[in-house]
Amino acid sequence: MADYLDSVPFSGIIRIRDMMYSVPDPFRLDQGDVSFDAPNSVKDAMIRAVRENRSHYLQTTGLPRLRELISEKLRRRNDIPVDDPDDVMVTNGGIHGLYLICHALLEPGDEVIVPDPEWPPCMGSILAARAVPVGCPLHESLAWRFDLDELASKIGPRTRAIYLNSPNNPTGGVLTRGDLEGMAGIAMKHDLWIISDEAYEDVVFDGAEHVSIASLAGMYERTFSLFTFSKTFAMTGLRLGYVVGRDPKIRERMKKVLFYTASNIASVVQYGGIGGLEGSQACTEEFRRELQGRRDLFYEGIAELDGVLSGKPPRGAFYAFLRIDPAWRRDGAEGGGPSSISWAMAEYLIKRGRIGCVPGADFGLNGEGYIRFCFARERQELLGALDSMRSLFGVPART
Ligand SMILES: Cc1ncc(COP(=O)(O)O)c(C=O)c1O
Repeated sequence: MADYLDSVPFSGIIRIRDMMYSVPDPFRLDQGDVSFDAPNSVKDAMIRAVRENRSHYLQTTGLPRLRELISEKLRRRNDIPVDDPDDVMVTNGGIHGLYLICHALLEPGDEVIVPDPEWPPCMGSILAARAVPVGCPLHESLAWRFDLDELASKIGPRTRAIYLNSPNNPTGGVLTRGDLEGMAGIAMKHDLWIISDEAYEDVVFDGAEHVSIASLAGMYERTFSLFTFSKTFAMTGLRLGYVVGRDPKIRERMKKVLFYTASNIASVVQYGGIGGLEGSQACTEEFRRELQGRRDLFYEGIAELDGVLSGKPPRGAFYAFLRIDPAWRRDGAEGGGPSSISWAMAEYLIKRGRIGCVPGADFGLNGEGYIRFCFARERQELLGALDSMRSLFGVPART
């Protein structure tokens, strides 16, 4: 019986996307897609693969050369002690990696501690595996990090794993090495697994450090980490990601889920991944620097909105997760708007201002009262959205 899937919610991001289709000339700050294009190293490798008729079935877990390059990258950049490319499995983007891990690791009723707020597919994947997400707040006052005592207090007899996502979507919070050491201690003490979502590993600002928890002593054995080419190489639509972990039993289960859901990941795209990893890595730093510029430009504009929206610039990822002034006049929204202030604000901005955004409530209970914008869009688009907000909130236009 598959009834349980009826209780797995779709992300509100889908509802927003549908709303955006009816908006003329929208500012698409709702979805987490970068405006950059994939580098030539990726595109040339894919073109070559097409010309050479690399269009046949492949190894289920991915091309050996790709897994070798990924293993080397994980050792060099993430300090993860991968000693065998068999530890790596190529997936249909990070979202697929998360699905594989949840299905291979969780029993029905197992609890997984998740950040609140958090990217909705995290909850969706846990629920689809018939397990139970247990929210643990990320605090704005702690730069959107956990209070580790509070995290430890969420552990109970059914807790099987902690999911962490740093840099975080939607808040942009980055966990420090100290945070991760603390979490490693908690995981070891309670014999828990860690699911580490590192989709934004290359998007850190102001000198923030991205640390992979699997690099800490004794943690590789109890961690499954997921990564993606989507953000690092601007390959969101091409769908390429990977998972790494040492436990062969869990990996064998993941391989079954991968085989039965996809057989193997698209061949041409895997060749593109090889091109990306063999080629110059300069694009990653170029993207990062440009994103920092866009972040600063967006927050300068937000600071001019008389406090209707506010928050500190994030240290990672490419989202502005902004507090909505509780005194904001909801009667500005049609019919008073929905009872959730974040949905009311989102509908107001979309319908009246053509500005795509996602209500904080969609990311968990602790996200209510906030709204998320993606600042990985072109500068012109960000400026257009800011102008639109200024006129909606009655702030004089810039001269
Ligand atoms: C936190 C997080 N993890 C994983 C992903 C997966 O991305 P993809 O499936 O495009 O690789 C995303 C995408 O937005 C994300 O925000």
